[in-house]
Amino acid sequence: MELLKEIKTNKTNQTRIGEVDFDHLEFGKFVSDHMLVCDYASGDWQQPAILPFADISLSPATLALHYGQTVFEGMKAFRMHDGRINIFRIEKHYDRFVRSLDRMCMAVPPKDIFMDGLRELVKLDKAWVPGQPGAALYLRPFIYASEARFGVKISDQYRFIIFTGPVPELYANPIKVKVENKYIRAAKGGTGFAKCGGNYGGAYYPTKLAREQGYEQVLWTDARENKFIEESGMMNVMFVINDTLVTAPLSDSILDGVTRDSLLTIAADLGYTTEERPVSVEELEKAFHEKTITEAFGAGTAAVVAPVRTIHINGRDYHLPQYSAVSLLNQLKQKLENIRAGLEEDVYNWNTIV
Ligand code: COI
Repeated sequence: MELLKEIKTNKTNQTRIGEVDFDHLEFGKFVSDHMLVCDYASGDWQQPAILPFADISLSPATLALHYGQTVFEGMKAFRMHDGRINIFRIEKHYDRFVRSLDRMCMAVPPKDIFMDGLRELVKLDKAWVPGQPGAALYLRPFIYASEARFGVKISDQYRFIIFTGPVPELYANPIKVKVENKYIRAAKGGTGFAKCGGNYGGAYYPTKLAREQGYEQVLWTDARENKFIEESGMMNVMFVINDTLVTAPLSDSILDGVTRDSLLTIAADLGYTTEERPVSVEELEKAFHEKTITEAFGAGTAAVVAPVRTIHINGRDYHLPQYSAVSLLNQLKQKLENIRAGLEEDVYNWNTIV
């Protein structure tokens, strides 16, 4: 394939930024001025272009709408303390994007379109990167099967889009979660590790039921025995048991979370013991009885760290102690924020300055 031609840019002459109250952001509500669009057709990726954000028109026969060939990434750009802007762990997100696309038999956009596209887009819409504590510019690269044909087949055409939007932290306050032992998120051999749309749509119903019972999210258990904890809602989940940071090991039913990986790395560097191993529901119950569990939290790009205050297990609510500034989750979050803001050295090379 010919190497990436320069990204053509068509700038808007009407910014919408004045419509946004950056002090009262809501997750997913606002989109920035521009988007990148690149089509795959006739076996090759076409010329990418940055355009004013706009609706797209679709044939009702578009394959993605029927059989779910859609994959997305969720990433963030941050305003640093000196005003520069960085994109966090761009390489790791690209690698996961590729793994998700392979699993869904979808065309993989060349790395330079992904990297340069994100950089150009963030540069162009840099005024949209919030400076408020905890807020960021969310970056949403995604691909859908764009072939207009309703026969059940792997699509021959794809559309790759990246748009962005300013977001606040997703869960500012500690959440209540419920161990789910009827519905499952992902099975062995399935698509749980892939960031495909169906994984999220399939989670709506059990989450709705949990909400009706007063819990914000479910704690997913394994599909075979409902015995081991897998994820929490749309995040990885971590526990502090006996002063050790514990989380489920990666598998085909668990998303290889970028925040998960970052927190494990930071915790180990801070001198904490970390364990990636199966955590059973029974172990959690026992840890509550023996008071050896001190923290539980979700880890994801949107939420960063989502502290858990209550876990419902087999008909009973178990409560976590309040989180102080020296709790591990707050130490990890602070250090991660400092690295992103340029207040601490980026020894891991996670920041791509745009
Ligand atoms: C994220 O944490 O960024 C996610 O992808 C979850 C969600 C907002 C869909």
